[in-house]
Amino acid sequence: MQVLEQIRDLRIARQAYAPADVGFVPTMGYLHAGHLHLVEQARRDNAHVIVSIFVNPTQFAPHEDLATYPRNMERDLHLLAEAGVDLVFAPPVSAIYPDDYNTYVEVGGVTEMLEGAARPTFFRGVATVVCKLFNIVQPTRAYFGQKDYQQTIVVRQMTRDLNLPVEVVVCPTVRERDGLAMSSRNSYLSVTERRAAPVLYQALIAARRHYQQGARDAELLREVMRNMLATEPLAKPEYVSVADPQTLQELAQVGDQGAVLSLAVRIGPARLIDNMLLEPRPTETEHRLKGDPHDE
Ligand code: PAJ
Repeated sequence: MQVLEQIRDLRIARQAYAPADVGFVPTMGYLHAGHLHLVEQARRDNAHVIVSIFVNPTQFAPHEDLATYPRNMERDLHLLAEAGVDLVFAPPVSAIYPDDYNTYVEVGGVTEMLEGAARPTFFRGVATVVCKLFNIVQPTRAYFGQKDYQQTIVVRQMTRDLNLPVEVVVCPTVRERDGLAMSSRNSYLSVTERRAAPVLYQALIAARRHYQQGARDAELLREVMRNMLATEPLAKPEYVSVADPQTLQELAQVGDQGAVLSLAVRIGPARLIDNMLLEPRPTETEHRLKGDPHDE
């Protein structure tokens, strides 16, 4: 596995892969099974896999955790080598944002709500760095986790709007055994806080259960999530949302478009997010599980 820090070296190495397909997984490092799942999917779909590790300063607000964001390059490289990655791109900040850097990518609409409302400069930083990484790496396909659902919508919109020749692939959220979505930021949790953290997943599951039993009133589903979060004294909810899965506009009723449930909750020093899709119609398996065996 090659590890490169400079853009010109990356470009030369990437040229050598042409014309074969290149899968790309952008990350901020401190890797866990969620990241590695994206790598596995990229390996299945492409002849070569490139992973970037770059803690992107433009997506952190001044009061946020840029300085303390967890890092462990040695461990990350070990995991990626084991996962069969061909090339890791780990540039210094000065390579991506030289002193005279002055261009930013602003995606409208889908960046305004949820994470965008809570973190006003966040998606400008994400879109800028993802656009730059796409231009540097020139992947055939790029892999993102559903864990950051709004980020996938923003990246898709940018890719479409700017005609970037990259296929955006979204992979399911990987969870701990108790349902907590894996996240580099889970390392901020104390033992007690960690025990409290699965309440996000429980809130999503509770709302999904109501939906499966026929509830379509979005405010009722929000209330179900708020009530579940309220059972955990350490959980401080920031937002609870039932929105259109494409536009991310809050819904009054869940209709044919289905919905995305999303949450942001503070637990101790960590700000945790999670989400779940409500499919417009029950899937085959859910239908079978739900159905009375005497119906068949
Ligand atoms: P990071 O938080 O390191 O995540 C990198 C990728 O892994 C993202 O696409 C994210 O959605 C995915 N991911 C994280 N946790 C996951 C989980 N539990 N299951 C499945 N996928 C998961 O997201 C970023 O970095 C940055 O914003 C980045 C896109 C790299 C731009 O700087």
